[in-house]
Amino acid sequence: MNMNILVEDFIKVFGGSQEGVHRFLSPGRVNLIGDHVDYNGGFVFPCALSFGTYAIARKREDATIRLFSNNFKDLGIIVADVFNINYEESHDWANYPKGLVKVLQDAGYKIDTGFDVLFYGNIPNGAGLSSSASIELATAIVLKTLFNLEIEMLDMVKFSQKSENEFNGVNCGIMDQFAIGMGKKDHAILLDTNTLNYQYTPIKLQDVTIVIANTNKRRGLAESKYNERRGECETALTLLQQKIDITALGMLTEEVFEENKHLIEDEVVRKRAKHAVYENQRTIKAVKALNAGDLHCFGQLMNDSHISLRDDYEVSCNELDTLVSAAWKNGSIGSRMTGAGFGGCTVNLVKTEDVETFIQNVGNEYQSAIGYSADFYIASIGDGTREI
Ligand code: GLA
Repeated sequence: MNMNILVEDFIKVFGGSQEGVHRFLSPGRVNLIGDHVDYNGGFVFPCALSFGTYAIARKREDATIRLFSNNFKDLGIIVADVFNINYEESHDWANYPKGLVKVLQDAGYKIDTGFDVLFYGNIPNGAGLSSSASIELATAIVLKTLFNLEIEMLDMVKFSQKSENEFNGVNCGIMDQFAIGMGKKDHAILLDTNTLNYQYTPIKLQDVTIVIANTNKRRGLAESKYNERRGECETALTLLQQKIDITALGMLTEEVFEENKHLIEDEVVRKRAKHAVYENQRTIKAVKALNAGDLHCFGQLMNDSHISLRDDYEVSCNELDTLVSAAWKNGSIGSRMTGAGFGGCTVNLVKTEDVETFIQNVGNEYQSAIGYSADFYIASIGDGTREI
């Protein structure tokens, strides 16, 4: 990405000169394994991507905040007052950066003048690669830099999640913000969402490539279904707590779950809990396999993860299943939906020498089954949110 062009765009939109202008990059993320466990106190294994949201920012002397996105030019410049930030439907995407300002102010950080920011993202919107968390962390680092805030990355991560939960009304876990803020080039992060302890794991795949495939299906109803799944897991936890001393489903082994699952009478709720418990254990096993150099075992666990998300957690959809089955047929080492589901992307491990044919065959099968095309990206793992 040529940042000079974005700086030129910034000056065209907001006027003035380059003086006081800062440049930032906040990546997208892809989760390799461990979905719908981050709000169940389980392990996840995401990594930051080498592309994401770019932000060009400059402080102002008055109280006006001006926000512009090259991705939503039609919406024009969105204006807010730094001393009176509210959620406004018509502000659309800009409610994400606005939320960060509000949450940091409420926590006592001094943000007492306005500022201008131009954003540009090359993460496809709604693809489940976390464009919202990416813009949240981008805003957090803009604010840290422009206002000299004493704030650690881990706190920026937590405030970004809080902002999305409370200002934007999406009850997400912490995985996306954590992966984006704390990402490290060529590493995935094994994160224990119960304790926030984490470990970087080098992703040295040698002759294997991570291919992301986008269904191009917009995620309709995803938020309400997401919150519904969270509710079902909470119900399951309360029922299990009658007999077992746990504070999260992620604390259960498969064995203890099997011994106690009769406490959950509702079959649907039992399936949801089963996914949470097994997916967490799968993530732990997958990282062990990876560290032992057993990529085939890692891939098999990815496949099992997809089946569990499809059948027990029921967050997949025809488009995702079509991409995954096509990948399984066309020689993937592992393939699964990634992220929240209901549309969005799959993540695939493919032998590097087969990538071209893989993309062609899976793409053709998808097009003929679904009627429109999928997009494919080669994932390269980048660093977390930073000034550049
Ligand atoms: C979304 C949420 C995350 C996580 C995933 C599913 O991306 O933002 O917190 O729950 O779904 O793993």
